[in-house]
Order: sequence, then structure tokens, then C-alpha cells
Amino acid sequence: MSDTPLPALTQIPPDLRSLADYERRAPAHLTAEAWHHIEEGSGTGQTLRANREAFARRGFHPRAMADLCGGSTATDLFGRIHAAPLMLAPIAYQRLAHPDGELASVRAATALDTGTIVSTLSSVTLEDIAEAARAFARELGKPTAPLWFQLYLQPDREHSLALVRRAEAAGYEAIVLTIDAAIKLSGMTLPPGVGAANLAGMPLPRQTATPGGRILFGTPLADTAPRWEDLAWLREATVLPILVKGMVLGEDAVRAVDLGADALIVSNHGGRVLDGLPSVLDVIEEVAEATGGKVPLLADGGFRSGTDVVKALALGASSVLIGRPQMHALAVAGMPGVAHAIHLLRTELEAAMAQLGCPTPADIIRARLTHLY
Ligand code: FNR
Repeated sequence: MSDTPLPALTQIPPDLRSLADYERRAPAHLTAEAWHHIEEGSGTGQTLRANREAFARRGFHPRAMADLCGGSTATDLFGRIHAAPLMLAPIAYQRLAHPDGELASVRAATALDTGTIVSTLSSVTLEDIAEAARAFARELGKPTAPLWFQLYLQPDREHSLALVRRAEAAGYEAIVLTIDAAIKLSGMTLPPGVGAANLAGMPLPRQTATPGGRILFGTPLADTAPRWEDLAWLREATVLPILVKGMVLGEDAVRAVDLGADALIVSNHGGRVLDGLPSVLDVIEEVAEATGGKVPLLADGGFRSGTDVVKALALGASSVLIGRPQMHALAVAGMPGVAHAIHLLRTELEAAMAQLGCPTPADIIRARLTHLY
């Protein structure tokens, strides 16, 4: 962590062998303010810690000598095959970590056949990101990987709709509606040259919430926060699959499915919004039971290794999103760094599945898990 950060490496040094290694190195490649912004949890960090501790509490009951022939991590979501149950989570302002920002991440994901969810608050336009993904896939002679657009509802529906239409036109395959972060305290000042590229020309938010800032209730920020009727509206507005991100309660999950959500993302926003939310691993099962397999569940929050991914799949998730590690890898080594980080996770996941006796994601069932303490 420095005010004159090191430039990104152009080659991956041999001592980078896990996502934790990237996390250790990242502060040297980021300004102090960017590092703090990426890492922070809200409040006293209870949820941030809970996300990680929940993995540590769980262990495995492997099946011995399973037949691993024909093993594969391939995962079907909305009729599209993902190479593994892994995607890049929407992360705002990626140019905070590297000058190429989202272009580097999406190229890395394309090279590794991994899906990307592009944030409304991306620091490169959604059109340029989609074009970079297509051009890189052509260059590599492979099909494009899944590309989804994450929507933050704007105070005016006309602007939300404009974003959805732009995402459709640019070839995005699903809309991820994030519902848990409309009211989020943030003290971050963006450096020059980094901004919300998709929102150029739209009215700036009329107020942001800052610690110790203005009172919230009665202001436009609170008055225009997403409501259930907005989900119903979005369902009418697009034929693309809709995922609702930020679900932590079975009851709400059922309501979202009733209103037409095609999938849910169980998430506490990486412990960045309401401090005191339970870990994601501790709520997946409730959401899975409530929705009874009607829609796929994805999950994010604290996933850092292949065994972490397996634990979520055993509890009912179909796929997992990776948040902060993208920014760590991007800061340390740009596009090759993110590609390497995804590769590390995929190889760890395959090793964990093989050691558990689970040749496919469908074999990863609740009975493979146990409590360590
Ligand atoms: C986020 N997250 C996020 N989510 C979202 O829906 N839209 C966004 O623009 C952002 N931006 C963002 C920026 C930064 C710096 C972070 C760390 C997170 C939340 C993100 O998608 C995901 O839910 C969490 O990051 C998952 O937790 P881990 O993997 O970071 O522990």
C-alpha cells in the first residue's frame, strides 16, 4: 500500500500460487485509498469476517475410490455451458486497480472460458467491454464466454431502461439486478480519469451517503431505493434472464422468483453494506430450501479457493462469483494476473472434486460436507 504504487508485473513470478498470494502482493500495487476501498467491510467488519470463518468451520466427507472417468466442471446456466461453476462478480471502477481496468478482466475471463458480470459502475463503457471480449475471443479462435450486465436502478426509470437496452444491443446475455446496495455509506473519492463510464450524460446521483454525512430518510436517495414493483417492471422490460443479487432470506427469494426472477445470487455484497448479516455459506441452504430448486442459486462473498467453491455447491449453489480477488490480481499483474488467478481457482476446484470423489458438480451433495468445529 503506497502513494506511489508499483506498476503491474508483466510476468507472473513463481511464488504466486494462490489467491492469497495475490492478496498479499496487491497493496504494493495500489494507492492506500484504493486498497482501503477494495478491502473494506462496513461497520466493524463482522460480516466480512463471518464470510471467511464460515468456510473454515466446514470440512469434507469424501467418497473413497470414486470413478473419475469423464469428470468435468462444466455447468449449464440458462442453456449456456460455463467451463466451471465460477464467474467474475461485478466490481465497480476497475481502473482503480489497473489502467486497462475492465478490458483486462474480460480478456482474462475470455481466455479462461469464464463468464463476466459487468457493473453499471464500470470505468470503461459496457459496449467497449463487450467488444473487447468478442475481439479477444476471435483472436484466440474460441467462442465468447458468457457476459452479463449488472444493473443498479437509476433514480429515473428512463435511465434504467436505457442501460438495459444498451446491454441488450451490445450482446449481454442476462441482467443482474443488485438490490442490496442502494443505501451504502462510502467515503471514496475517485482519482482523475476513473469514473462511471456508462452513466456519462445521465444525471449524477442526487445525494450519496457518506459516513457522518446528511440525514438519509426523506431524501431522494431513500425515496428512490429499489422496491418489489421495480423487479416486476424490469421483468416486463426485458426478455433476457434476470438474476436478483443480494438475497439472504428464503421469504424474499420466493417473492423474487414469483415476480419472474430466473436465478438468485445469494450475497451480502462481500460484507460491504449491512454489517451483521450472516455469512453467505450460512444462508444458502435456507434460500435453497425455500425456493425448492425452482431457479439456480449463485453465491458470492469470501470465495478464495477451490474447496470454498465446493462447499457452496454442496449447500445448493450452482455457481460462485469471485469479487475482490479480481482486483488483487488486476493490480498485481493486469490481464495475465486475472487469467492466472482464474486458472488457479479452476485447478484447485478440479483437485478438490477429484479428492472428494465427485467427478461432476452434480455429485457434490450435502453429504460430502461435515463440520470441523
Ligand atoms: C463490489 N460489489 C459490487 N456488486 C455489484 O453488484 N455492483 C458493483 O458495482 C459492485 N462493486 C464492488 C466494488 C468493490 C471494490 C467490491 C469489493 C465489491 C460486490 C461484489 O459483486 C461481490 O458481491 C463481493 O465482492 C463478493 O465478495 P468477495 O469475493 O469480494 O469477498
